[in-house]
Amino acid sequence: MNTSFAEIPEEYKIKELIHQKSYLVSGDLKTWEGETTEVFSTISSTSVYKPTLLGSIPNLGKKEALEALDSACLAYDKGQGLWPTMKVIDRIKCMDTFVKMMKTKRNEIVKLLMWEIGKNLPDSEKEFDRTIEYIYDTIEDYKNMDRDSAKFSKSDGINAHIRRGPLGVVLCLGPYNYPLNETFCLLIPALIMGNTAIFKPAKHGVLLITPLLEAFQKSFPKGVINIVFGRGRTVASPIMETGKVDVLALIGNSVSANALQSIHPKKNRLRLVLGLEAKNPAIVLPDADLDLAIDECIAGTLSFNGQRCTALKVLYVHKDIIEEFNKRFSARVDALKFGNPWEAGVKLTPLPEKEKPAYIQELIDDAINLGAKIINDKGGNITDNYIFPAVMYPVNKEMRLYKEEQFGPIIPILSFTDIEEPLDDMAESNYGQQVSVFGKNTNTLAPLIDTLVNLVCRVNLNSSCQRGPDVYPFTGRKDSAYGTLSVHDALRTFSIRTFVASKDNEYNNEILNELLDKKASNFISTDYIL
Ligand code: G3H
Repeated sequence: MNTSFAEIPEEYKIKELIHQKSYLVSGDLKTWEGETTEVFSTISSTSVYKPTLLGSIPNLGKKEALEALDSACLAYDKGQGLWPTMKVIDRIKCMDTFVKMMKTKRNEIVKLLMWEIGKNLPDSEKEFDRTIEYIYDTIEDYKNMDRDSAKFSKSDGINAHIRRGPLGVVLCLGPYNYPLNETFCLLIPALIMGNTAIFKPAKHGVLLITPLLEAFQKSFPKGVINIVFGRGRTVASPIMETGKVDVLALIGNSVSANALQSIHPKKNRLRLVLGLEAKNPAIVLPDADLDLAIDECIAGTLSFNGQRCTALKVLYVHKDIIEEFNKRFSARVDALKFGNPWEAGVKLTPLPEKEKPAYIQELIDDAINLGAKIINDKGGNITDNYIFPAVMYPVNKEMRLYKEEQFGPIIPILSFTDIEEPLDDMAESNYGQQVSVFGKNTNTLAPLIDTLVNLVCRVNLNSSCQRGPDVYPFTGRKDSAYGTLSVHDALRTFSIRTFVASKDNEYNNEILNELLDKKASNFISTDYIL
């Protein structure tokens, strides 16, 4: 899609480039004089198509990566650091300062979300607002957790003061499709629990971290959060090789996750928090409300062009309704508006990965060779930065489209007669995040739900799959995830139960009372925050 500069609304025009020269290490925003990488948007600002240059980022090397690691290790300081030993209320104050500063950057970040990853305006705004809400909810949940642990337990003559403590140094890597939200859903709970972190932004959606660098620097003690830029192989690998990372928190691709885990020399030290690929199916039963099922399948397959881990990536439709479903679904896909992210009513937007249209084309060609057809008129229409969603039917298990997580605008449809067919496929699949089921008859639904909950981690009844609300557990079976994230679960995931135990006798109790009276320890304390 070609747009002349004049057509872009004034507030979204790229007038100044962001040449991001600094990285955050040991509380300093250090200036990088070395090699940089240019950041382009696949959105054109000229009437003849041309990717738009947005700016550049430092291309840091191993030396700077290890400097960031040392800074995080020093801030943790073998558990003695200011941050891991700080009172909960003081860590919360730092987080409050950060969120206040972050809120002032909304416009800049929303604009960059649109240019860097092509997310439409309402969804970009939602990503920002949802992240702010997540931070506030995390603070509240942490207060609750702290209140619950502001007490002693007694069992078998042993007094115990049990809390959750940090794990150590976290390496945090987020995905390009939610470069703010998903990354912060790892980083914020990791930090608030007293861990220190090294964060490397995703390849796309990286400049949008620039407006936040100063907020990070000013809100947290030095070394608690370190932000580096560059290629994963150059920056993340040397950090992992040292064996000093306690937690790998990564949302993205299993290839990177496996590679990073495998080079960590101390396998049992390394905790994993991973959100990986999924191939969430929709199962449309013969008695489904077709209007509702189609609405939800459109949103499920194509919001943000299908670039969501929770997207519906394969549709199973019962044979009795397949014809009607395909006809109506295809027409709805063709009616979706494609355009630049700021245009009113756009549902489909440019793909941030320049090689994506060619990849989707490969999936189409392979499926056609193996007997599928594109059943919507506009399906597969290719432009410089987009390929119109192709609805492919009938898809079979030999096709790459069935096997690979497409993460883009292409929709495979299979028909089934016996419910065992999709259930067998799900059981065989390497993935197990969520499923959507469309139907009404409770005699059919009851046994189906009872099976599906054992194959995935969220069964969505008559609605598409999604992560939110963020208070609900977000996880997956098999290769889809490791660990559970929600506002509450993430606090648990980034911490461990640790406690002080003492025999219940006069000698020990006197010491405990004195510790409590003097308020000398931040751990042994029955004070709590309201
Ligand atoms: O990419 C995966 C995201 O967690 C999906 O979140 O369901 O809110 O789009 P969402």
